Amino acid sequence: MRDKNPDRVFIFDTTLRDGEQSPGFHLDANSKLRIARQLERLGVDVIEAGFPISSPGDFEACRRIAREIRGATVTALARAVREDIDAVWGALKDAQDPQIHIVLSVSDVHIDRKLGMTRAQVLKRGAEMVEYARFLCDKVEYSPEDAGRADPDYLIETVETMIAAGANVINIPDTTGYCLPYEFGELVRRVINEARGSEKALFSVHCHNDLGLAVANTLAALSAGARRVECTINGIGERAGNTSLEEVVMLLKVRQSKLGLECAVETREITRTSRLVSELTGTPVQPNKAVVGANAFAHASGIHQDGVLKDRLNYEIMKPEDVGLADSKIVLTARSGRHAFHHRLSRLGITLSEGKDDEAWQRFLVLADTKKEVTDEDLRKIAAMAETNGTNGHEGNGHPPVTDQLHDHNHVADAMRHMIFG
Ligand code: KIV
Ligand code: ZN
Repeated sequence: MRDKNPDRVFIFDTTLRDGEQSPGFHLDANSKLRIARQLERLGVDVIEAGFPISSPGDFEACRRIAREIRGATVTALARAVREDIDAVWGALKDAQDPQIHIVLSVSDVHIDRKLGMTRAQVLKRGAEMVEYARFLCDKVEYSPEDAGRADPDYLIETVETMIAAGANVINIPDTTGYCLPYEFGELVRRVINEARGSEKALFSVHCHNDLGLAVANTLAALSAGARRVECTINGIGERAGNTSLEEVVMLLKVRQSKLGLECAVETREITRTSRLVSELTGTPVQPNKAVVGANAFAHASGIHQDGVLKDRLNYEIMKPEDVGLADSKIVLTARSGRHAFHHRLSRLGITLSEGKDDEAWQRFLVLADTKKEVTDEDLRKIAAMAETNGTNGHEGNGHPPVTDQLHDHNHVADAMRHMIFG
């Protein structure tokens, strides 16, 4: 199951299963199919289509995805019971490359308080269900749920047992988002090094973001030898969400020379995919979200705008084009400087006539203090008003005058800006 290239990282997208499990994120079958098609275009290796036993609608969505998608492995989730596994197989058997994904807890918290079983019973049940799933399908993934809080020795015993039973992918989930990066990396390293038969399996990780560490934990696991990453578009998923696909993928790309790892995702499809998921789930992406947030490639302060306009390298570590954006954004606000102001005017094809520059700039400052963003439309008006204002300070064409008082105020503001932004 491992790739010939030891540096290849496989991207397993679970937007349609773990992502869709988040409260308020329900997707109907048509929406799921649209997202699956876009994930195929994005170039993910595995699409987790859903949890077929959960509802007839989800079964049908998984079946349609399995029948249509040809460029990726299609998987779906089953608990370690025959009915679930049969439902997954019923939905996926027409897929070009199907995989059955089985989940069963491994932490004592879950074994005692959720399952009411013993460790030995869990091992027996897991192995029986892996064998059953392998009888149906060549590819079986086993997820020992809550591995991040489990006894590592019992986790290792579980992994050995499931590989011996026929699992060819072992996933190590930090289900509750509890682990620290160095702890999680160490856990994954121990499992890969110590579990007998580990060379026969591909190791995957599945991290949750309860403490904001999902991507960091995923990276630690990759450094420890895991080669598959379970993640979602926009980081959606149970509670605080899952590892964000776009963050991991861009991390691999931007820091390739340091990490030496690669994946097959077409990064220029990232923005389109993020927007589609946001639109179909009806959930906006937070503006400061890494890679796909509206502000991820926007510059608003004078210092940064000046730097970016001189050379993007000053403040951008990745190219907007690489994630499918046309360009970075220079947003005009009260914190902007003259460099950005002139840049935006010139992009609108506006050249102010001699002596009108200060007038336009003062008007910009007055307006910028009253709103969040000065738009192109505002800039056109500012330029027109500056042009029509007479040299004696009286304005023509009925435009409101820029009062002496405002001039005073703005001269102070301008002087301060010069001191700060140059
Ligand atoms: O968080 C989790 O443990 C899961 C498993 C099904 C992998 O979602
Ligand atoms: Zn999960």
